[in-house]
Amino acid sequence: MKLLILATLLGLSLAQFNPNTRDGKTAIVHLFEWRWADIAAECERYLGPNGFGGVQISPPSESIVVTNPWHPWWQRYQPIGYNLCSRSGNENDLRDMITRCNNVGVNIYVDAVINHMCGAGGGSGTHSSCGSYFDANRKDFPTVPYSNLDFNDGKCNTGSGNIENYQDINQVRNCRLVGLLDLALEKDYVRGKVADFMNKLIDMGVAGFRVDACKHMWPGDLSAVYGRLNNLNTKWFSSGSRPFIFQEVIDLGGEPITSGEYTGIGRVTEFKYGARLGNIIRKWNGEKLSYLKNWGEGWGFMSSDKALVFVDNHDNQRGHGAGGASIVTFWDARLYKMAVAFMLAHPYGFTRVMSSYRWDRNIVNGQDTNDWQGPPSNGDGSTKPVPINPDSTCGDGWVCEHRWRQIKNMVAFRNIVNGQAFSNWWDNGSNQIAFSRGNKGFLVINNDDWELNDTLNTGLPGGTYCDVISGQKESGRCSGKEVVVGGDGRASFRISNQEEDPFIAIHADSKL
Ligand SMILES: *[C@@H]1O[C@H](CO)[C@@H](O)[C@H](O)[C@H]1NC(C)=O
Ligand SMILES: *[C@@H]1O[C@H](CO)[C@@H](O)[C@H](O)[C@H]1NC(C)=O
Repeated sequence: MKLLILATLLGLSLAQFNPNTRDGKTAIVHLFEWRWADIAAECERYLGPNGFGGVQISPPSESIVVTNPWHPWWQRYQPIGYNLCSRSGNENDLRDMITRCNNVGVNIYVDAVINHMCGAGGGSGTHSSCGSYFDANRKDFPTVPYSNLDFNDGKCNTGSGNIENYQDINQVRNCRLVGLLDLALEKDYVRGKVADFMNKLIDMGVAGFRVDACKHMWPGDLSAVYGRLNNLNTKWFSSGSRPFIFQEVIDLGGEPITSGEYTGIGRVTEFKYGARLGNIIRKWNGEKLSYLKNWGEGWGFMSSDKALVFVDNHDNQRGHGAGGASIVTFWDARLYKMAVAFMLAHPYGFTRVMSSYRWDRNIVNGQDTNDWQGPPSNGDGSTKPVPINPDSTCGDGWVCEHRWRQIKNMVAFRNIVNGQAFSNWWDNGSNQIAFSRGNKGFLVINNDDWELNDTLNTGLPGGTYCDVISGQKESGRCSGKEVVVGGDGRASFRISNQEEDPFIAIHADSKL
């Protein structure tokens, strides 16, 4: 009996590591702050056809509306209830988007904010995304409802009520994160409300959750909530499928709370990945691409099957959260494309591509004074649609990194090489590297300040391949560079350090 229970628990928790992507697809994209109607259209016209496995959406739950500063992006990380209306759209828009994305094989992952409600200074009134009344001073959120009995303050031992010292585990989990009212997830009632919210979304058809601020919740409480979640909707997923869980835990080392406390109950965001990769791509502190030879667990990262990886995310691309100045973003497009290509070619972790909007970046003494700015908006603060230009880029301040040819084609590369071994590593002891994924794909990068001119073993069958970075295979010919692989698997490469994209990628489907 005991064994049976153990097996059941283990079975449940193991399933939460599976992203449930259709057809073995291997990467998702975070469409940060997009409207539901635009995501639905993007699934149908672009993400489905180009092999994207899913979309991480911004928090759909009812949040506070902040007007000073003017509609910042972080207002959505301050829930006042679990009604499903936000600046991305209402519940009908959300349901329509989930349905349409699922129908073209693209999963939806919800950013779930369950650690806290709005800030203690959030005031009272109906300044919320569905117009529901709340009173932050009295910790009264009638739309859930939560009352002052449902918060952790009694357990917090700091003078301010906020987290003051990250070396104190109890503070980090029982006190307020930057003043946000901290929910008492130990309470059965609170767990029930959170699970009801997540289950409603599961029943609508979502495939899983990015769980916000997990470092600030006790793993045991999270495990209890996850245990209450329904199986996925069998209209799109096989019977018994568990929701994919990936937990935001910022662990760069140096704190008592580690990712390892959470990897038993779901995947975890590996923040070391982007921070360290940024150092290497920027060649800071003498770091080199050749050091990537043992990338992954060899660098002290969590095990690959527990990791959710990314080059940048919505927080650290604007200096929030963790990672610091080394993080590469679309603002450093040349380095960024190289970093994302490396991530998508390398087998470590489950990969997430970032899709951003521009803001008026203004860095003063290392701080971006406009890091709060919300998405491209109309005068009244409502989010603008994402217009698609004739050349397939996005307009109106939406960056759409996922539509950059180099990134879009590397998502396809990752799908094609899925399951293939990391092999045929080569480096020049400096910043020129290459590797294959079995006999299905090959990537070579030159981040040195001089030309790469070498004959390398690609591991691929002989033939002529289209480089999918400078172009791609189009109606039986290459729109960019061609690579001729000999019968022995070897090919000569010349990559000038002056090129906009000093890297080449070829794969089984780019063969002529
Ligand atoms: C790196 O690459 C270049 C050209 O491929 C080569 O000449 C050089 O010796 C290599 N090694 C180092 C340490 O730079
Ligand atoms: C590139 O390498 C080949 C073969 O080693 C050599 O013949 C050629 O001169 C090199 N080209 C340059 C520009 O160094």
